[in-house]
Amino acid sequence: MPQWLKNAVFYEIYPQSFYDSNDDGIGDINGITQKLDYIKGLGFNALWLNPCYLSPFMDAGYDVEDYLTVAPRYGTNDDLYNLFKEAHKRNMHVILDLVPGHTSDQHRWFLESKLPERNKYSDYYVWSKSVWEKPQGYQWVSGMSDRDGCYMLNFFNSQPALNYGFNNITDASWQMSYTDERVKATFDEILDVMRFWLDHGCDGFRVDMADSLVKNDDEKTATASLWRRARAMLDKDYPEAMIVSEWCNAPRSINMAGFHCDFLLNHYQKMTYYGFRCIEDGQNKSYFSKTAHVSAHNMLNKYLDELRQIEGKGYISVISGNHDTERISYTLDNSELRLAYTMLLTLPGVPFFYYGDEIAMRYIPQKSKEGGFHRTGSRTPMQWDRTLPNLGFSNAESSKLYLQVDDRPDAPCALQQAQDDNSLLNLVRRLNELRQQYPDLQADGSMEILVCDDKSVLCYRRGNIAVAFNPKDESAILPIAMGEKLFETGNAVSQSDYTLLGAQTAVVFKLK
Ligand code: NOJ
Repeated sequence: MPQWLKNAVFYEIYPQSFYDSNDDGIGDINGITQKLDYIKGLGFNALWLNPCYLSPFMDAGYDVEDYLTVAPRYGTNDDLYNLFKEAHKRNMHVILDLVPGHTSDQHRWFLESKLPERNKYSDYYVWSKSVWEKPQGYQWVSGMSDRDGCYMLNFFNSQPALNYGFNNITDASWQMSYTDERVKATFDEILDVMRFWLDHGCDGFRVDMADSLVKNDDEKTATASLWRRARAMLDKDYPEAMIVSEWCNAPRSINMAGFHCDFLLNHYQKMTYYGFRCIEDGQNKSYFSKTAHVSAHNMLNKYLDELRQIEGKGYISVISGNHDTERISYTLDNSELRLAYTMLLTLPGVPFFYYGDEIAMRYIPQKSKEGGFHRTGSRTPMQWDRTLPNLGFSNAESSKLYLQVDDRPDAPCALQQAQDDNSLLNLVRRLNELRQQYPDLQADGSMEILVCDDKSVLCYRRGNIAVAFNPKDESAILPIAMGEKLFETGNAVSQSDYTLLGAQTAVVFKLK
């Protein structure tokens, strides 16, 4: 287990939209490097970069054309190696996005695979027997090449599924076993891609659709066996490298497949991500809402259940949101966000913040860009400074921007929030400081629910520290006496043998 995960807090960057260092209207790698001190200053010590490889960008880069080359619009491979170096100097880690389930239909492997003549790549993708056959249960594309067969999709039409074989074989005339030597080559390629970036200084990978590799694999045992190969490689040659999966089932991802972390997300295959709201009340009312008055039970059930099952073997990663979710500020207002972030940063596991969530950037519904569709509204440029053109994201003319910045006069900005002691940004910074100061609050510490009543007061214990919440718009009693107060948002008052929690309050304190 990489030691640095114990106190890691990640910051996810959508490279297109973070910082444009060369005035061409789109974010780039050097822009990220220039902003490392901002990220570090907030207390984040690890980065996840969304795909930054060569791509036709039909799905924002999740359609990879070349796994080993940085897309020119973001810079060069050397720029990325330099980012790794600069991050390490600051004691930070950087993970890349690994997309093993599919490539772009422009990838060299696919261009070869679709040729009618047999070649090295013919079996790299999943092809049906003939152009007339689209076996049920999966999506297929037909008639796009001279090869007599349909190719299976993993996501959009431009993302053919790489062939990792089948577990339950229902038609041996075109399905290969996942143990077949021919499909073993596909995963070997992915292991080589991992080695390439790790050898250049990268610290691990967020793995896209990690559970999607082997087909007809309902229990995911075959897919898990592939990842165990990857984990064995890491343990042997890169013991400080981490892998976090988009699997959304921590017991399977961590216990069966050997991932270090798994994201807690809902229903990802139907693309209805809820981000942090996924540990929300089952009726889709947020626990943090002033008016919902719902118990935290439903919200925490799945999380606690998974936590119990994986104990000690890995970590759950709860997110503020990501590039696929509506921004968290779409459903929670500023004071509700303060409570949500207090929880996010005091839970066991490895938390992930999506860029801009520290200032409550908004979800801005708009026309789709590069396969974003409804997700585009969460991918707008970072808002750095209210006094600068394009809010400091880029010096390009605003008509040339990759996506427009939030143009409302009250668009939240990082610099102005940094100068305001009560801002959300400073709350995030303080919570991160607290997490670094007290190992009890970090990834490994225990968690025990002390109070979870049906009137929405929640209090959990992390070692000798308690974290309590009252999301309601009126005060409530916490039947626990407060020791030294370490952090509060709202107002918590100590009484002789109980604590009075003001409306919309979260507090972190030492147990007496
Ligand atoms: C999940 C990624 O987060 C999403 O952005 C992408 O479109 C799909 N996987 C397909 O790769």
